[in-house]
Amino acid sequence: MSNRDVAKLTFADLRPAEVIDVSAMPRILRRVLGLAFRYPRHIGIASLATLGASALSLFLPRLLGRSVDQAHGLLARHVAFGAEWHPLAISAALILGVSTLRGLMRMIAGYLGEALGQNVGYDLRLAFFDKLQRLGFDFHDGIHSGDLITRGMLDLEGVRGFIGDGLQRLILVVMLVGVGAVRLFSTDWVMALLALSFVPIVTWQSARTGLFLRVTWTRLQEKMALLTRTMEENLQGARVVRSFAAEQHEIAAFDTDGNAALRIARYRIGVRALSITAMQTTFYLAMGAVLWVGSARVQAGRMTVGELTEILAFMTILQQPTRQIIMIVNSAARATSSGQRLFDILDREPLVQDREDARPLVTPRGTVRFEHVDFAYPGGPTVLHDISFAVGPGQTLGIVGAPGSGKSTIAHLLPRFYDVSAGRITIGGEDVRDVTLDSLRQSVALVAQDVFLFDIAAAKNIAYADPLAEEDRIVDAATLATLHEHIDAMPQGYATAVGERGVSLSGGQRQRLSIARGALPDPAVLILDDSLSAVDTATEATLRAGLRASNQNRATIIIAHRLSAITDADEIIVLDEGRIVERGSHTELMALGQRYASLYRLQSVQAHEGVEPGDRTLDTASA
Ligand SMILES: Nc1ncnc2c1ncn2[C@@H]1O[C@H](COP(=O)(O)OP(=O)(O)O)[C@@H](O)[C@H]1O
Ligand SMILES: [Mg+2]
Repeated sequence: MSNRDVAKLTFADLRPAEVIDVSAMPRILRRVLGLAFRYPRHIGIASLATLGASALSLFLPRLLGRSVDQAHGLLARHVAFGAEWHPLAISAALILGVSTLRGLMRMIAGYLGEALGQNVGYDLRLAFFDKLQRLGFDFHDGIHSGDLITRGMLDLEGVRGFIGDGLQRLILVVMLVGVGAVRLFSTDWVMALLALSFVPIVTWQSARTGLFLRVTWTRLQEKMALLTRTMEENLQGARVVRSFAAEQHEIAAFDTDGNAALRIARYRIGVRALSITAMQTTFYLAMGAVLWVGSARVQAGRMTVGELTEILAFMTILQQPTRQIIMIVNSAARATSSGQRLFDILDREPLVQDREDARPLVTPRGTVRFEHVDFAYPGGPTVLHDISFAVGPGQTLGIVGAPGSGKSTIAHLLPRFYDVSAGRITIGGEDVRDVTLDSLRQSVALVAQDVFLFDIAAAKNIAYADPLAEEDRIVDAATLATLHEHIDAMPQGYATAVGERGVSLSGGQRQRLSIARGALPDPAVLILDDSLSAVDTATEATLRAGLRASNQNRATIIIAHRLSAITDADEIIVLDEGRIVERGSHTELMALGQRYASLYRLQSVQAHEGVEPGDRTLDTASA
């Protein structure tokens, strides 16, 4: 799309109704105000200061008018310049005093308003982060992390900005117009009407422009979010992009989105400039009318020059806050949509959470049982059917199955990342849904298939579950994971940071670091979800031997593609499309001579031929 298309963009194209839910405005704004009213002292003092500032603002035109009349009087009486300066000097001093006091009041109101906004921002930020930590995987699966970051940062700013600034401007405008109107109408209603004539027109124009700016701003943000996402993915996936020589394609996509953003930005500038010009013209027309009629009144002796000056000065004072209605409406509309998006997250309750009567797990080192477990991801088809098995302390269960057969899902159910749809999971006879999540997750360590490491020291990554772990426990865990020598050889040993997501390590090293992290707290149940796939066969054997030796009363579940990792397991289950299709020890399954046996033979042949056996898996074996 070219820049010339900007002329074709219309307000309706931006679909304002999707951005501003006007019917939700009162409800959301009331809730936003509720957040502010947790700080009643801030609000009370700020409002009083604003009221004071408005009253003083109206006093200034009067003083000005008085001075003009005084000066005019001296002129009329041919008093020599400087001969009778007292009254004028007093007026001047009063003007100085009043404007200083007004500045002070506005400063107080401004400071408290901003402080209030910051307080609410802090409260919201904490509540939001806390909610993100507690919401389950069912929630996080369904929402892009970039979207959540936007809500936590930008939307939060939207709510905060309205409290810190918009609210104050609103109070100022209402008080100024209100108090000023009373004063004007009480003296000369014709002049009052003329002087205030610009207010409704400019208010209407401001409100419209405010809404317009809001809608276009949101559309602009959406385009910017697209750009951010593209850039983020291209940075994270830089290797993929380069290796597929997709740079040109990615640049073209970026350019299209960038152009759309530019169009909207230019449209905004145009409309805003037009609208400001229109408002200024309205204002000066009203001022011209006041001057015209006012001069006639002065000539007829029905009004003094000073009184006319007062009206003109008042209009000037009123002009700015009226134009700021743009910002108030914009800010209120932003607070509405931002508040909606923020509250949408804050109001969610995690599906998986502690029961009210949840107690800590009594016998973490009991037998882990799946009893007729069925499971479907929220809104999805059933992916596990009637899964039953038991792993006692000191025992190992092996799970094999084609990709997508449900192995990782079994691993996710045990620490209650999700709750089962039917059946139950018990540890030592206790249903995992009856115990506290904290105690459950402290007992069950899952070494996940996709490793995530923090960009902190290797030692801190290993000790993530127990930041106070002594050094020898960290070294023990690393040794168990056959990673000690490698870490020791790194530039700063255990203090070496591993880079974003662990980029400074190889795939196998990352897997082993995450095994060390899982093993450090000596969990009652350890699940390795395909955690040895990138480790060579010799290292795998050492690691398995180490785990067996350290595993006297730990239940271990090993999910593996390469069968050598599980041949010594007490029981092996073979999964196919969420069902257990074969089960038994290695010897029993070999004797059965079905899937497991054929896969095992296939992998042995490959190992013999020197092919990395992990490359061939159940799905290729059964094909
Ligand atoms: N977070 C999720 N949301 C919805 N469906 C999922 C999710 N994770 C996995 N699935 C689906 O569940 C099935 C089993 O997946 P998974 O347990 O990851 O298989 P495996 O680990 O054996 O490769 C697959 O059909 C997969 O598409
Ligand atoms: Mg998996």
